[in-house]
Amino acid sequence: MGKYQAPKGVSEYFPPQSGIFESVIRTLVNPALAAGYEPIELPIFEDTELFTRGVGESTDVVSKEMYTFEDRGGRSITLRPEGTAGVMRAVIEHNLDRGQLPVKVFYKGPFFRAERPQAGRYRQFYQFGIEAIGINDPYLDAEVIAVAYNGYKALGLKNFELQITSLGDKESRDNHRKSLIKFIEALNLDEETKARAAKNPLRLFDDKRSEIQKSMASAPLLLDFLNESSMKNFDDVQKALTSVGIPYIVNPRMVRGLDYYTGTTFEFVHRDLGAQSGIGGGGRYDGLMETLGGQNLSGVGFALGIDRILLAMEKENISTQNNSYTDLYVIALGEEASKEAFSIVHTLRLSGFVVEQSFGDRGLKGSMKAADKSGARFSVVIGDAELTSGSVELKNMATGEAISVTLSALATALAENSR
Ligand code: HAM
Repeated sequence: MGKYQAPKGVSEYFPPQSGIFESVIRTLVNPALAAGYEPIELPIFEDTELFTRGVGESTDVVSKEMYTFEDRGGRSITLRPEGTAGVMRAVIEHNLDRGQLPVKVFYKGPFFRAERPQAGRYRQFYQFGIEAIGINDPYLDAEVIAVAYNGYKALGLKNFELQITSLGDKESRDNHRKSLIKFIEALNLDEETKARAAKNPLRLFDDKRSEIQKSMASAPLLLDFLNESSMKNFDDVQKALTSVGIPYIVNPRMVRGLDYYTGTTFEFVHRDLGAQSGIGGGGRYDGLMETLGGQNLSGVGFALGIDRILLAMEKENISTQNNSYTDLYVIALGEEASKEAFSIVHTLRLSGFVVEQSFGDRGLKGSMKAADKSGARFSVVIGDAELTSGSVELKNMATGEAISVTLSALATALAENSR
């Protein structure tokens, strides 16, 4: 083992698995593109206040898990623990909400939470997310859910479940809150828990301690407090999901880990993953833009955990073979041949072929081994004799058959015999 190790709890991907990491993200992006979402690239660090205001101080994410530091200008900076607040900041700052609505964007990249590391829970992890901002419409909620669902399906995942609930509109939430606070006041809680409940009483549903879970079993549920219009809205979302064959269960006790949610909220839970089973989640956040100083517009979105999706694919024995391919492996023997090979390889690559060249002085045997390992479909050896004759043996690596091809006709021969 070398002297340096990666920081504790970060996820890393290197060849050959890193090829799968890339292709999983590409597969998830496709359904978002098909629904008209456009890419957005945002900074990995933001002003700390964006997250304390946006995500909420009652959350574990803000109160315990942020990577916060002072930059050289004395500003408080935080590595982004999630993507929604940053998207909203960018939408407000760059007036994206003054154009066509909804604003529909997707993003992918690393996020940071100083959690206790365990399988499926990392301090640097990867998310793919989408946000649709500016229109409040149950069909938009259903669209967002469908984009995630189609992504999981395209990856071949089966053993997961979509859980949904609704936090209703402000009136419904206020009514429930009053009743919940009354219920909580009657419980015998420690000061810290009381303080957390004062910031957001819903948090107690999410408390892992068994005595709290027991007390909360009879707590009033928000779903029972939805007023007529919130009920209809939630009903419309469910009907839309059913109409396109997306199965779901209603989980009235679901609590998302971030404070900005309103209306429809959802989580995708994988059955084979143990404790860290959430492979994605999201929902509506109708007050966030105003909280962050923008207009009073609504939003809905999700983020999917790439690391956990890869673990889930492994559990379901979905082939995570790296399906990268190489058309041709070129072995050059000698100085003259290396020179010639370099320019042949360069030209073939520009023509769209995936070509590898042997480097270093490995001799014919060592180079053939490397060609085999590369998984290339074809190989050629270029030595002095081939330079003189101007032709090479194009060898099919699977069958061992070889055909004689002039150097200038290599591209044509590859095109005729490839894929
Ligand atoms: P979240 O539920 O906090 O939502 O995270 C979304 C997903 O990211 C989780 O379901 C999980 O798969 C993955 N994830 C979260 N933390 C970790 C971790 N420490 N290690 C590995 N994976 C993790 C959000 O972040 C919201 N911004 C989603 C959203 C977008 N809501 C509306 N728009």
